[in-house]
Amino acid sequence: MAEFTVMLGDITESKVDAIVNAANTTLLGGGGVDGAIHRAAGPELFAACVPLNGCATGEAKITPGFKLPATWVIHTPGPVWHGGQQGEADLLANCYRNSLRLAESHDCQTVDFPSISTGVYGYPLEEAAAVATQTIATELARSSNLTHVRLVAFDAETATAYRTAWATLAD
Ligand code: APR
Repeated sequence: MAEFTVMLGDITESKVDAIVNAANTTLLGGGGVDGAIHRAAGPELFAACVPLNGCATGEAKITPGFKLPATWVIHTPGPVWHGGQQGEADLLANCYRNSLRLAESHDCQTVDFPSISTGVYGYPLEEAAAVATQTIATELARSSNLTHVRLVAFDAETATAYRTAWATLAD
Protein backbone atom coordinates (compact mmCIF):
# COMPACT_ATOMS: atom_id res chain seq x y z
CA MET A 1 0.00 0.00 0.00
CA ALA A 2 1.20 3.51 -0.74
CA GLU A 3 2.76 5.53 2.05
CA PHE A 4 1.29 8.57 3.82
CA THR A 5 3.55 10.98 5.71
CA VAL A 6 3.21 14.41 7.28
CA MET A 7 5.98 16.96 6.77
CA LEU A 8 6.56 20.53 7.85
CA GLY A 9 7.30 22.77 4.89
CA ASP A 10 6.29 24.95 1.98
CA ILE A 11 4.26 23.06 -0.63
CA THR A 12 5.53 25.33 -3.42
CA GLU A 13 8.90 23.59 -2.99
CA SER A 14 7.50 20.07 -3.36
CA LYS A 15 9.22 18.06 -6.10
CA VAL A 16 6.30 15.68 -6.67
CA ASP A 17 4.03 14.71 -9.54
CA ALA A 18 1.17 16.87 -8.22
CA ILE A 19 0.58 19.41 -5.49
CA VAL A 20 -2.95 20.23 -4.41
CA ASN A 21 -4.03 23.85 -4.13
CA ALA A 22 -6.58 24.91 -1.50
CA ALA A 23 -8.30 27.16 -4.01
CA ASN A 24 -11.57 29.06 -4.11
CA THR A 25 -14.43 28.43 -6.51
CA THR A 26 -13.28 31.13 -8.95
CA LEU A 27 -9.88 29.43 -9.39
CA LEU A 28 -8.48 32.92 -9.96
CA GLY A 29 -6.06 32.91 -7.04
CA GLY A 30 -6.24 34.36 -3.56
CA GLY A 31 -4.20 34.47 -0.39
CA GLY A 32 -2.76 31.69 1.76
CA VAL A 33 -1.43 28.63 -0.01
CA ASP A 34 -3.40 29.61 -3.16
CA GLY A 35 -1.48 32.86 -3.35
CA ALA A 36 1.84 31.17 -2.65
CA ILE A 37 1.28 28.59 -5.39
CA HIS A 38 0.30 31.22 -7.95
CA ARG A 39 3.32 33.37 -7.07
CA ALA A 40 5.69 30.40 -7.40
CA ALA A 41 4.10 29.01 -10.58
CA GLY A 42 4.06 32.36 -12.34
CA PRO A 43 1.37 34.08 -14.41
CA GLU A 44 0.90 31.11 -16.73
CA LEU A 45 -0.96 29.37 -13.91
CA PHE A 46 -3.57 32.13 -13.74
CA ALA A 47 -3.87 32.04 -17.56
CA ALA A 48 -4.41 28.27 -17.44
CA CYS A 49 -7.09 28.62 -14.74
CA VAL A 50 -9.19 31.24 -16.54
CA PRO A 51 -10.65 28.85 -19.17
CA LEU A 52 -11.52 26.31 -16.46
CA ASN A 53 -14.45 28.55 -15.49
CA GLY A 54 -14.09 27.97 -11.77
CA CYS A 55 -14.66 24.82 -9.75
CA ALA A 56 -17.39 23.75 -7.34
CA THR A 57 -16.54 23.12 -3.71
CA GLY A 58 -15.24 19.57 -3.29
CA GLU A 59 -14.53 19.15 -7.00
CA ALA A 60 -11.01 19.22 -8.46
CA LYS A 61 -9.46 20.52 -11.67
CA ILE A 62 -5.87 20.13 -12.91
CA THR A 63 -3.35 22.40 -14.61
CA PRO A 64 0.38 22.16 -15.33
CA GLY A 65 2.70 23.43 -12.58
CA PHE A 66 4.66 25.80 -14.87
CA LYS A 67 7.53 27.29 -12.80
CA LEU A 68 6.79 25.04 -9.81
CA PRO A 69 8.97 21.95 -9.28
CA ALA A 70 5.73 19.91 -9.27
CA THR A 71 4.50 18.68 -12.66
CA TRP A 72 0.82 19.33 -11.95
CA VAL A 73 -1.34 21.51 -9.72
CA ILE A 74 -4.71 20.10 -8.69
CA HIS A 75 -7.06 22.90 -7.64
CA THR A 76 -9.80 22.03 -5.17
CA PRO A 77 -12.00 24.52 -3.29
CA GLY A 78 -12.56 23.33 0.27
CA PRO A 79 -15.72 24.06 2.25
CA VAL A 80 -16.04 27.19 4.36
CA TRP A 81 -16.76 26.14 7.97
CA HIS A 82 -20.29 27.12 9.05
CA GLY A 83 -20.46 25.11 12.27
CA GLY A 84 -20.44 21.61 10.81
CA GLN A 85 -24.14 21.18 10.01
CA GLN A 86 -23.98 22.13 6.33
CA GLY A 87 -22.24 19.07 4.90
CA GLU A 88 -18.74 20.46 5.46
CA ALA A 89 -17.22 17.07 6.33
CA ASP A 90 -18.52 15.41 3.16
CA LEU A 91 -17.35 18.32 1.02
CA LEU A 92 -13.89 18.21 2.59
CA ALA A 93 -13.69 14.44 2.02
CA ASN A 94 -14.66 15.08 -1.60
CA CYS A 95 -11.69 17.45 -1.96
CA TYR A 96 -9.24 14.74 -0.94
CA ARG A 97 -10.96 11.92 -2.83
CA ASN A 98 -11.47 13.84 -6.08
CA SER A 99 -7.94 15.24 -5.98
CA LEU A 100 -6.41 11.77 -5.59
CA ARG A 101 -8.58 10.29 -8.34
CA LEU A 102 -7.71 13.15 -10.68
CA ALA A 103 -4.03 12.65 -9.84
CA GLU A 104 -4.34 8.94 -10.63
CA SER A 105 -6.00 9.69 -13.95
CA HIS A 106 -2.87 11.69 -14.84
CA ASP A 107 -0.58 8.81 -13.80
CA CYS A 108 0.70 10.67 -10.74
CA GLN A 109 2.46 8.53 -8.15
CA THR A 110 3.37 11.25 -5.63
CA VAL A 111 0.87 13.86 -4.39
CA ASP A 112 1.29 16.58 -1.76
CA PHE A 113 -1.66 18.22 0.02
CA PRO A 114 -1.88 21.36 2.12
CA SER A 115 -4.27 21.38 5.08
CA ILE A 116 -7.38 22.25 3.07
CA SER A 117 -9.91 24.65 4.64
CA THR A 118 -8.14 25.06 8.01
CA GLY A 119 -6.89 28.55 7.23
CA VAL A 120 -9.11 31.33 5.91
CA TYR A 121 -12.03 28.90 5.60
CA GLY A 122 -12.00 28.27 9.36
CA TYR A 123 -12.43 24.50 9.45
CA PRO A 124 -11.39 23.27 12.92
CA LEU A 125 -7.99 21.63 12.60
CA GLU A 126 -8.64 18.37 14.47
CA GLU A 127 -11.91 17.72 12.61
CA ALA A 128 -10.32 18.49 9.25
CA ALA A 129 -7.37 16.22 10.00
CA ALA A 130 -9.71 13.35 10.91
CA VAL A 131 -11.68 13.71 7.66
CA ALA A 132 -8.54 14.11 5.55
CA THR A 133 -6.64 11.13 6.96
CA GLN A 134 -9.69 8.84 6.81
CA THR A 135 -10.29 9.75 3.17
CA ILE A 136 -6.63 9.43 2.22
CA ALA A 137 -6.37 6.02 3.92
CA THR A 138 -9.43 4.75 2.05
CA GLU A 139 -8.11 5.99 -1.28
CA LEU A 140 -4.62 4.58 -0.72
CA ALA A 141 -6.11 1.17 0.07
CA ARG A 142 -7.88 1.08 -3.30
CA SER A 143 -5.29 2.85 -5.43
CA SER A 144 -2.92 0.98 -7.70
CA ASN A 145 -0.47 3.63 -8.84
CA LEU A 146 -0.20 6.14 -5.99
CA THR A 147 3.06 5.49 -4.12
CA HIS A 148 3.42 8.42 -1.67
CA VAL A 149 0.91 10.97 -0.44
CA ARG A 150 2.07 13.71 1.94
CA LEU A 151 0.40 16.38 4.02
CA VAL A 152 2.67 19.43 3.88
CA ALA A 153 1.99 21.39 7.06
CA PHE A 154 2.98 25.05 7.20
CA ASP A 155 3.20 25.09 11.00
CA ALA A 156 3.97 22.63 13.79
CA GLU A 157 0.43 22.62 15.23
CA THR A 158 -0.95 21.51 11.87
CA ALA A 159 1.70 18.81 11.51
CA THR A 160 0.89 17.44 14.97
CA ALA A 161 -2.85 17.39 14.26
CA TYR A 162 -2.42 15.30 11.08
CA ARG A 163 0.16 12.97 12.63
CA THR A 164 -2.17 12.37 15.57
CA ALA A 165 -5.18 11.82 13.31
CA TRP A 166 -3.27 9.33 11.16
CA ALA A 167 -1.97 7.44 14.20
CA THR A 168 -5.49 7.30 15.64
CA LEU A 169 -6.71 5.73 12.39
CA ALA A 170 -4.12 2.99 12.63
CA ASP A 171 -5.39 1.92 16.09
N1 APR B 1 2.65 25.59 1.94
C1 APR B 1 1.85 24.75 2.64
N2 APR B 1 0.80 25.17 3.36
C2 APR B 1 0.53 26.49 3.37
C3 APR B 1 1.32 27.44 2.65
C4 APR B 1 2.42 26.93 1.92
N3 APR B 1 3.21 27.74 1.20
N4 APR B 1 0.79 28.68 2.87
C5 APR B 1 -0.27 28.52 3.69
N5 APR B 1 -0.42 27.21 4.00
C6 APR B 1 -1.39 26.57 4.89
C7 APR B 1 -2.06 27.43 5.92
O1 APR B 1 -1.18 27.69 7.01
C8 APR B 1 -3.21 26.52 6.31
O2 APR B 1 -2.76 25.55 7.23
O3 APR B 1 -2.46 26.09 4.10
C9 APR B 1 -3.55 25.81 4.98
C10 APR B 1 -4.84 26.28 4.31
O4 APR B 1 -5.02 27.66 4.56
P1 APR B 1 -5.53 28.68 3.40
O5 APR B 1 -4.43 28.87 2.42
O6 APR B 1 -6.07 29.88 4.10
O7 APR B 1 -6.69 27.86 2.66
P2 APR B 1 -8.21 27.63 3.08
O8 APR B 1 -8.42 27.68 4.56
O9 APR B 1 -8.60 26.39 2.33
O10 APR B 1 -8.97 28.89 2.45
C11 APR B 1 -9.02 28.99 1.05
O11 APR B 1 -8.15 31.18 1.04
O12 APR B 1 -6.29 31.85 -0.09
C12 APR B 1 -7.63 31.82 -0.14
O13 APR B 1 -8.10 31.67 -2.49
C13 APR B 1 -8.12 30.95 -1.27
O14 APR B 1 -10.36 31.72 -1.01
C14 APR B 1 -9.49 30.62 -0.79
C15 APR B 1 -9.29 30.43 0.71
